[in-house]
Amino acid sequence: MLYPLVKKALFQLSPERAHELTFQQLRRISGTPLEFLVKQSVPTKAVTCMGLTFNNPLGLAAGLDKDGDCIDALGAMGFGFIEVGTVTPRPQPGNDKPRLFRLVEAEGLINRMGFNNLGVDNLVENVKRSRFGGVLGINIGKNKDTPVEQGKDDYLICMEKVYPYAGYIAINISSPNTAGLRALQFGEALDDLLLAIKNKQLELQAYHHKYVPVAVKIAPDMSEEELVNVADSLVRHNIDGVIATNTTTGRDLVQGLKHCNQTGGLSGRPLQSRSTEVIHRLSRELNGKLPIIGVGGIDSMIAAREKMAAGASLIQIYSGFIYHGPRLIKDIITHI
Ligand SMILES: Cc1cc2nc3c(=O)[nH]c(=O)nc-3n(C[C@H](O)[C@H](O)[C@H](O)COP(=O)(O)O)c2cc1C
Repeated sequence: MLYPLVKKALFQLSPERAHELTFQQLRRISGTPLEFLVKQSVPTKAVTCMGLTFNNPLGLAAGLDKDGDCIDALGAMGFGFIEVGTVTPRPQPGNDKPRLFRLVEAEGLINRMGFNNLGVDNLVENVKRSRFGGVLGINIGKNKDTPVEQGKDDYLICMEKVYPYAGYIAINISSPNTAGLRALQFGEALDDLLLAIKNKQLELQAYHHKYVPVAVKIAPDMSEEELVNVADSLVRHNIDGVIATNTTTGRDLVQGLKHCNQTGGLSGRPLQSRSTEVIHRLSRELNGKLPIIGVGGIDSMIAAREKMAAGASLIQIYSGFIYHGPRLIKDIITHI
């Protein structure tokens, strides 16, 4: 496979430059006959989840294609679903660079991107153009300059705009890179948000005559009690799924490694066991009442199987894809 060579070249560049260059190329071929350059055939392993049928249970996690620029090219690599976003109501530049770091020895990444994106309207236009045959998730968040107390409004604005075009909608309340965002995961703030989201979903269902499931994405940095409370709240509000997990603010497993003290969320191999633990605990608590989408450090088919054994119905990758390339998609789907 070509990826080891491509990776060698890309890893000479800064992580964000490598991302930009790769996306420039992918954007050129996405939706054109040149897609064959990245296309690979994978077996069909259909799964039904949240009322949707997925060709296979492996998806691309949010944050790689924030603006939905390369949906078709990424889809050609075999993913059963792609989660684009996080998008916010208005475009925003994100945090100052550098804001993305490789922890090469650990096959980890630390990012503090801060929802850099071109806004929900731009994303919708890209989604309308795409011809991806799998399930498209759209992950939504709040603008940096929207006070947390009004954060709810940003989610509702985005929901309304993406609803007709989404296979499912992911509510991101777990990025560590938007001040105050994670507070929406707890207590009254969570209940209040979920109530509003559920009402909006039902209103949009009636209007568009279609039901689009909503999944909530949570952080790995919660106590057992907090996790139990979140699970309870998701069930009470009839949320359709939970995505576990986002990146961690913990650094236990990467002490002493280059970049380990950068501010932001840590992903990849060092997150693997913690995210599996969260999925396991959630699964016990939810008892099948809503499905879990497992994400965090999946870097092999065994890691993928571990997530499913812990209780995930679907899985997603991000960092593992950066370190192992498209071959990882094929390996996982073939052996899942
Ligand atoms: C550079 C980068 C940007 C990310 N951006 C987002 C984002 O915008 N929204 C989101 O919900 N998750 C985002 N994530 C988190 C991933 O979707 C995923 O939950 C996390 O990285 C754990 O999976 P992994 O270990 O396979 O990378 C981002 C992760 C990385 C590395």
